Amino acid sequence: MPAIVFLPSGHRGDVLEGITVLDAARQLGVDLDSVCGGRGICGRCQVVPTFGDFAKFAILSSPSNISAQTTMEDEYDGRRAIEADARLGCAARVRGDLIVDVPAASQVHRPVIRKSVDLADLVVDPIVRLHYVVVVENELGGDRSDVELLGDALSQQWSLPPLTITPTALIEMQPALNAMGAPVKRAVTVAVHAGSQIIAVFPGLADGAYGIAVDVGSTTIAGHLCDLESGEVLASAGIMNPQIRFGEDLMSRVSYVMMNPGGKDDLVLAVRAALEGLVGTLVELAASESRPGITRKDVLDLVIVGNPIMHHLVLGIDPTPLGTAPFSLATALPVDGRAADIGVDAPHSALHLLPCIAGHVGADTAGAVLAVGPHRGDEVTLLIDVGTNAEIVLGNRNGLLAASSPTGPAFEGAQISSGQRATAGAIERVRIDRETLEPRLRVIGSTLWSDEPGFEESLPEGGVTGVCGSGIIEAVAELFLAGVIDGDGRIVGAMALRTPRVVADGRTFAYHLTDGDNPLRVTQNDVRAIQLAKAALYAGAKLLMDRSGLETVDTVKLAGAFGSHIDPVYALVLGMIPDCSPDKVVSVGNAAGTGAVRALLSAADRAEIAAVARKITKVETAVEPKFQQHFVEAMGLPHSTDPYVRLGAVVALPDRNALAAASTSPRGRRRGRS
Ligand code: FES
Repeated sequence: MPAIVFLPSGHRGDVLEGITVLDAARQLGVDLDSVCGGRGICGRCQVVPTFGDFAKFAILSSPSNISAQTTMEDEYDGRRAIEADARLGCAARVRGDLIVDVPAASQVHRPVIRKSVDLADLVVDPIVRLHYVVVVENELGGDRSDVELLGDALSQQWSLPPLTITPTALIEMQPALNAMGAPVKRAVTVAVHAGSQIIAVFPGLADGAYGIAVDVGSTTIAGHLCDLESGEVLASAGIMNPQIRFGEDLMSRVSYVMMNPGGKDDLVLAVRAALEGLVGTLVELAASESRPGITRKDVLDLVIVGNPIMHHLVLGIDPTPLGTAPFSLATALPVDGRAADIGVDAPHSALHLLPCIAGHVGADTAGAVLAVGPHRGDEVTLLIDVGTNAEIVLGNRNGLLAASSPTGPAFEGAQISSGQRATAGAIERVRIDRETLEPRLRVIGSTLWSDEPGFEESLPEGGVTGVCGSGIIEAVAELFLAGVIDGDGRIVGAMALRTPRVVADGRTFAYHLTDGDNPLRVTQNDVRAIQLAKAALYAGAKLLMDRSGLETVDTVKLAGAFGSHIDPVYALVLGMIPDCSPDKVVSVGNAAGTGAVRALLSAADRAEIAAVARKITKVETAVEPKFQQHFVEAMGLPHSTDPYVRLGAVVALPDRNALAAASTSPRGRRRGRS
């Protein structure tokens, strides 16, 4: 029997002479793709025979050891062109010892490398699969219905077990079976979900399966449309969550439901309409950019993540129990259904929501865990998703803990006197000269610093309009490093003698970031709002460290749009996170959305997060007595009692005692009363 070796996997075996390369691959468990089932029409099974004397394998692979070009290959005119030197694995037959290379495009479980959504180590293995079958004709007087004949074909040609079929697929089945004339009469492509249910029946060979992953945030809803076969992210889009008109933050939306008859339905309809619109946008984008002809009917799977309240509202569940203790989830388990169940017009599409973790820690955090993978390694990871609340996960392969901390919206620029969302015109970067105490600013929409030539001209229309979350964090941290703010968070009045930018503001002081009649200011109340938010975040993290018996963490991963903008050094200077070397604090982007994409493209990942989420230990900050103590101690900058030694090794932190003396000096106090 000839020997065959498949590269790059190295699978080797002896096979019957005359067997097709595709069948040989299947016998040896080699990852070689096929949608058409070896009929020579999909082009997925391409292999490249490699010739020569391979001493390493003790194989002399010669051109005569593979059958000559076949008629099937000559007549092939599928969408996927046959590459140079490649053969169709379903046509080429083994005639002698052979080495064949399986290119990445022909591997079913191929690794994906994607820049905007980091799927570096993902193995594409979607839960929805396409199978092309030819179904025998029904006979007059025959006792088999068409769906049974279809099931027979799937069993014989793809070894699939008995399958159920959705009503939509059933309606389409007979028209699809009858759509094609000879020679592919009764040929259809069937989309099978989880190996158990037929969700779509397309006429002939349908060579495209698509899915959409969505992160439903309380402010924005972001989605990615992916090719389920290649794992490519084909289109990405985001929209504002229209629920904002019912309340800026989550709790005000729960209040809206409580206070208004029909309020829940208002919120449900709003978020579902947004999802429906987003799906349309993504399909249009994919059609215009890379997949002409793709329609909503080609979307076969929809995966959603979101915080517990968004998760419940998307499903139409009353979120009121999540607004009061004991913060009961209707379900923490993954939810499976149809896209139509949530009003999304994608008639074939399945629906999957990732599991929630606790009443305040939702499927978005589960997505972030799946994307970042703290449970896969030894490194103790602190994963933080900063939004209106901060979701915090701590641990490693030995176990994870999770909590939510009530940071409030200050980190997003809300509750700040000059605060605004991170849109054009917002100050996002701040530097304060340690000598002159003059600020340098960077503004969203301009690439220049404020002291660079051309800055004024480079500003977006409307000029500098406010300070966003990262801007206020940098401003407070820089003012602290410059000595304008002391370790207790007081704006030091004595600094008014050094700079006209420190100005009395009632009984306290403010720092003017900009000039003119209406300057953008950092007020004492702004600093307090940031202190409260960062103390809540730190206390939540510290609580999880207590419960784990940990003094330090190895690495901090900041997720979310905010995490992408914040400079790790400033997060540490403010004491938002426990002391850590700044180079171990990294942004992981929209980890929740990435996790949703992973769950869309990989059944294994979907199963993994379902299992991991169930094992995460939930910590309820509201009932933990030590939370309050940690909170109070964390009000200082960076912290009242923790010396932040690892940060201090790379950043010159002000001497707390010197600052305290300055802020209580007679000059300082006198200015404070003016
Ligand atoms: Fe489809 Fe070979 S398996 S062309």
